[in-house]
Amino acid sequence: MANVELIEVDDAATLCRTAADLVIDVLDGLPEATVMPATGSTPMGTYEELAARAARGPFDASRLRVVQLDEYVGVDELDRRSLIGWLRRSFLRPLDVPDEQVVRLRGDGTDLALACRRYDEAVAEVGGLDLAILGLGPNGHLGFNEPPSDASSPTRVVELSPASIASNATYWGSPDAVPRRAMTAGMTVIGAARRTILVVSGSHKHDVLHRALEGEVTPEVPASFLQRQGGVVVIADRAAWR
Ligand code: F6R
Repeated sequence: MANVELIEVDDAATLCRTAADLVIDVLDGLPEATVMPATGSTPMGTYEELAARAARGPFDASRLRVVQLDEYVGVDELDRRSLIGWLRRSFLRPLDVPDEQVVRLRGDGTDLALACRRYDEAVAEVGGLDLAILGLGPNGHLGFNEPPSDASSPTRVVELSPASIASNATYWGSPDAVPRRAMTAGMTVIGAARRTILVVSGSHKHDVLHRALEGEVTPEVPASFLQRQGGVVVIADRAAWR
């Protein structure tokens, strides 16, 4: 865990405030920074906290460039369950970031390989990520980089693992309704972020968090590559870490 800073907090509420403090700290003096905010349940409170602080001022996120982390294949962007829809509701709208400032990962077209290439080019054009705000999958995934994914895994279309289908079933009503394919920013993109904040909450993440931070660095736990990355802070609540 040599390369990773771990901040342990009491509970999920403290996690949100601590993560928001750190995001603001990282973005201080970088009003046009490029940020990749994960969806998923864990960072939602952090985004609410950021929006509350932006409303009070002086934190202003409206000039940030935002890079989408992942998306389901074949789901219309206006579908509430699309990840771009979730990103708009949770991060872009509350923080006044216009859609024109978003690098999209589009899963609704016909040429998905081309969409992945365009995405990688667009991320490169903006100079990569200043900050990635990530959650930890129940199987150690980052974005939808399912096991096995190593540090050289590119932006691509993936088959969702049974663990990811199960953990996303609540958003879709049942496991059968969850799309089987998704697109994800490659480990290449995520791993090149200059700063990364990984937020982890709850006892159900305990084992996978320890494998990610203290276990062998292995494609079987994609998040374990964070150990080699540098600039990574993990904020975990007591239930997840102890
Ligand atoms: C979401 C995403 C996923 C989640 C992860 C943790 O865009 O890419 O990797 O970050 O599955 O999800 P939660 O926070 O719901 O436990």
